[in-house]
Amino acid sequence: MVEAWEQRIHPERALERLAEERRPARQVGSGGWFPRNEQPRDAHHRGLSLGRKKGGTAGADASRPFGPDSVHGAPAGAGRPVDVRNRRGFIMFEASAASDPQPVPRPTPNLTWVQPQSDPFTDAVAPRAISLGGASTASYPTFTISARLQGRSVLTDTDLTHDEIVEVLDTAVRLKKLRRSGQAHGYLAGKSLGMIFQHPSTRTRVAFEAGMAQLGGQAIFLGVHDLQIKRGESLADTAQVLSRYVDGIVARVAAHSDIEEIAAASTVPVLNGLSDRCHPMQALSDLLTMQEAFGGFAGRKIAYLGDGNNMVHSLLLACATMGMSVSVASPERFQPDPDVVNHARWLGAASGASPEIVITDDPMVAVVGADGVYTDVHVSMGQTDAATRAVALAPYKVTTAIMNAAKPNAVFMHCLPMHRDQEVEAAVADGPRSIIFDQAENRLHLQKAVLLHTLCSTVA
Ligand code: CP
Ligand code: NVA
Repeated sequence: MVEAWEQRIHPERALERLAEERRPARQVGSGGWFPRNEQPRDAHHRGLSLGRKKGGTAGADASRPFGPDSVHGAPAGAGRPVDVRNRRGFIMFEASAASDPQPVPRPTPNLTWVQPQSDPFTDAVAPRAISLGGASTASYPTFTISARLQGRSVLTDTDLTHDEIVEVLDTAVRLKKLRRSGQAHGYLAGKSLGMIFQHPSTRTRVAFEAGMAQLGGQAIFLGVHDLQIKRGESLADTAQVLSRYVDGIVARVAAHSDIEEIAAASTVPVLNGLSDRCHPMQALSDLLTMQEAFGGFAGRKIAYLGDGNNMVHSLLLACATMGMSVSVASPERFQPDPDVVNHARWLGAASGASPEIVITDDPMVAVVGADGVYTDVHVSMGQTDAATRAVALAPYKVTTAIMNAAKPNAVFMHCLPMHRDQEVEAAVADGPRSIIFDQAENRLHLQKAVLLHTLCSTVA
């Protein structure tokens, strides 16, 4: 009867049933019972019998079917008062009772009769099981991308062309929609990502780890203290070994030369999760956020105030590639690398949008006409001159007055983590123009897009 019921309301389990039925089965009697001498010790009580267990559907107490919530000592032949909810036994109980013309005996007066919560025969639409794996594995919506980034590394912002960035952003938008609508998208099933991190991380790490899981793959976090790097194994040897195990490597490194060494030795794509020179995953994610906030890039301007560090290097290169103007205000000794600035000017010119790339030491000059004001910590990971920086960079704090000098609807941006009232006034960071948590969320969608493009092995 249970089988008939299952076939009626669980047609998708037909294959599972076939596989299970091919397994050697214990002999059962005509009514689905084990031979009498093999029956559970009190299964012969009228009105209660136990369903055969099938993998994955048994409740937590299935291994002790006569567990603490059952009542011992009821006289043989008496219907036993027992909470049968969430048990397969419940189904058999109902089936027996329904087919038995004799009324179910009433419980003894000092016990409580527990009514089942629902009737599985009339309540057939109620979900009772979640199918995992096998023939019932979800299929995903067709998702077509170009193969041009397949197998490629992203070490710096200039590793992607304008058109490639456009495609990655488009993929991120589509993945964001799939996630928001709850549609599974495990396109990287079976893929693994090795993650070598020399510095701590919240966003980069979790976005890659959660992103790989959402894409059906797996991420393996490898803090340098866990690797044999700690005992002197070279980055190059580590990269060669990891390449034999995983399909891609993310590295967050103190020195940019380290990620170049990893990439040179690796045979799988290497993604930069931050180096002292640049932070391309953050800048690409910020492009996604700016696209959402501004509706596009051409004619837009971002002003960056603060240390001329890895973050502003990536913003200069990424924004210029997309044709956006960037003005940077930093004290002279903490301005961005002139080579990066020149490169950004060249990329801006090549974009055809003629963006302006301006470096100044005056924050008020930088923010005029800006659609967004961006800042970052004044002391980056690995920097040791904290006191000098604190003094020199204090005038570059993003304040309400600074925000008011930008465009009326200008947004505030920060890659995070931030120090309220150091590089940004708390009222700005937590104010209505702040889009910092949208930026943080977009790390997930953008990094998933980069993973999909670089690690995919089958392209429709
Ligand atoms: N913005 C950023 O990269 O954050 P984490 O250091 O937390 O990864
Ligand atoms: N410039 C910062 C960015 C952190 C995401 C740093 O390198 O510490």
